[in-house]
Amino acid sequence: MTIRVLAISGSPHRHGNTETLLDAFLEGAEGEGAVVEKVVLKDLSFTPCQGCNACHRKDGCIVQDELTPLFDRIAQADCLALASPIYTMGITAELKGLIDRGQFLWARKYIAKTLYYSRDHLRRHKGVFISTAGQSWDHVFDGAFPILTAFFDITGFEYWDNLIANNMDRYGTIRGHPTALAEAREKGRKVVQVIRKARGEDPGSGA
Ligand SMILES: Cc1cc2nc3c(=O)[nH]c(=O)nc-3n(C[C@H](O)[C@H](O)[C@H](O)COP(=O)(O)O)c2cc1C
Repeated sequence: MTIRVLAISGSPHRHGNTETLLDAFLEGAEGEGAVVEKVVLKDLSFTPCQGCNACHRKDGCIVQDELTPLFDRIAQADCLALASPIYTMGITAELKGLIDRGQFLWARKYIAKTLYYSRDHLRRHKGVFISTAGQSWDHVFDGAFPILTAFFDITGFEYWDNLIANNMDRYGTIRGHPTALAEAREKGRKVVQVIRKARGEDPGSGA
């Protein structure tokens, strides 16, 4: 059965360090038989969450724009790969904009209680965070992890793994990284195998 990997790139910088790392992950997943799709948030026209809390009272978000159909695609994905460079110790405005607009899912799950993901669903749906940062400190990614945890929780993905690379201050530095791209390809392959296994499918079967 098809395994769909949806990648969402939150870098405003096309084909930079973060998107290149994401592409390597997708290459690995596609090589393992998954159907992959990449959405570049900077190409979409969308409004940030208005904080109106209308989604607390009635189902869905009152804002309708190019982000709206993306939530349907997220719901159809088996693996969600979210990518963002570290900007001022956190994720980019593009990715945070998407995540905040997911508040209607939070309202469904925690207020209306109409949204529920079973343990089995979570075993079959994996979330991956892909990031790069200029600084060498390990903790430079720490501000991002809880945000990703919250979004995977409301979209129904088990937070499976991170792919991160430090010391990426210059454009294209990722291409000279000794291990990051190979590791990303390997994780792309691995996540497809893990989902296939969780479904009880033959490890050799393709998309
Ligand atoms: C506005 C801005 C803020 C940044 N803030 C940080 C930061 O707080 N910590 C850090 O390690 N790197 C920071 N960086 C560096 C980027 O995270 C790094 O160069 C990254 O690899 C860029 O990825 P990209 O090529 O996908 O844009 C910042 C870069 C920009 C443009």
